[in-house]
Amino acid sequence: MLRRGLRALLPLAILLQGAEAVDNGLALTPQMGWNTWNTFGCNIDESIIIGAAKALKDLRLDEYGYHYVVMDDCWSLHKRNGTGYLQYDPRKFPNGIKHLADEIHAMGLGFGMYSSAGKLTCGRYPGSLHFEEKDADLFAEWGVDYLKYDNCHNEGQSGTPLISFERYERMSRALNATGRPILYSMCNWGEDSPWDWAPSIANSWRMSGDIVNVFDRYDDRCPCEDYICRLPGHHCSIMNIINKAAPLGQKAHAGGWNDLDMLEVGNDNLDYEEQKLHFTIWAMVKSPLIMGHDIMQTSEETMRILTNTDILDLNQGRWHTGFRSYKKEKSQLWLQDSKDQTGNMAVALINNGDEDGEFTIDFKDIFLDEWNRRKVGYEVTDLWTKESLGIVEDKLVVKVKRHSVFAGKMEFKGDPEMKPHSKKLHGGTDEL
Ligand SMILES: *[C@@H]1O[C@H](CO)[C@@H](O)[C@H](O)[C@H]1NC(C)=O
Ligand SMILES: *[C@@H]1O[C@H](CO)[C@@H](O)[C@H](O)[C@H]1NC(C)=O
Repeated sequence: MLRRGLRALLPLAILLQGAEAVDNGLALTPQMGWNTWNTFGCNIDESIIIGAAKALKDLRLDEYGYHYVVMDDCWSLHKRNGTGYLQYDPRKFPNGIKHLADEIHAMGLGFGMYSSAGKLTCGRYPGSLHFEEKDADLFAEWGVDYLKYDNCHNEGQSGTPLISFERYERMSRALNATGRPILYSMCNWGEDSPWDWAPSIANSWRMSGDIVNVFDRYDDRCPCEDYICRLPGHHCSIMNIINKAAPLGQKAHAGGWNDLDMLEVGNDNLDYEEQKLHFTIWAMVKSPLIMGHDIMQTSEETMRILTNTDILDLNQGRWHTGFRSYKKEKSQLWLQDSKDQTGNMAVALINNGDEDGEFTIDFKDIFLDEWNRRKVGYEVTDLWTKESLGIVEDKLVVKVKRHSVFAGKMEFKGDPEMKPHSKKLHGGTDEL
């Protein structure tokens, strides 16, 4: 009886749980690591990638979960060999890719590779379209653990979800057929709504055009303000991507995540507060956390952000995928429910306005569906300063600097009988 009652309450959640995940056992929490592109672009070689892997280890970032070292575009020659296989550029990789993968594995890290579901990659090197099996076999032979799979030069094979699905599914099947578990990170920029069809074939899918290290600026190179977009583009600001990602959290689940693109933490042009905001929301919506800064030059400030274990816990720990409670002109409220039945909540108040401010967060905007919990006490801890704000009831008042975020954990102090009695209809089906 009770079961049936719950089912009646949760048709959407049950339906989504039925959606099949790509069954490679990877990305049960969002993947974390570092990628060459944001800092080095096409100027990559073996010594840069090994140097970055060593820096990651020296900084002990692997102990915080940053595991994959991903080599982006421009690693190959411009021609396939006589039997149709990709060839690495021997000037950049004098010892070959297998050697590079071995070195990275010897450090206990995972090695990521790049290609495009097109005739050419974005840098105009050979892409994997029509060569999926050959390329997947070669990647597996080299010891690749991760594939970022781009969308450039796709010969017009997009425009409907089915066309895009079939193109990306071919690589998914080819990777599976190698027998080597390879994390499949789709990068089709949110074209044709991948959140609807990628979960059964990929571990993550980009949901917008490329990120740029700008906090909030309209740019015609990234013309869409909404998640349905005909021209995803690039130069998408942090706030542009946040606004597009807000409704998509419900599509995330263990093994399949919305990818908001690589982190701009540690890159110039964003101040410390903007970087905190960026990192907090990427964590809350359970985006992969792939660093993109010059890791050999990591500052203390950058380390403070990347190693905030409370924020990392929102991404990797027992929290449902975050979602937005409201969007006002100069502020937004984001929420995340605990998975562990404690009744705990995480809240983030974004001040995207240009002035420092004080914000009152009403409990009715936090406990959207649980009316009975709007009047009970919660102990609040600031996840950036680590200070306790004491026990609060009814509302929470926070000071937030311009372009910054308040992130707090709310620990339930009320009657245990008032613990949440149901999984939410919002926040995704990200059960492990
Ligand atoms: C390939 O797919 C099957 C069926 O979904 C799955 O059981 C298996 O673990 C996959 N293998 C790899 C290497 O991803
Ligand atoms: C092409 O590359 C593949 C994989 O590295 C190799 O097995 C094959 O022998 C090469 N073919 C030629 C003609 O060099």
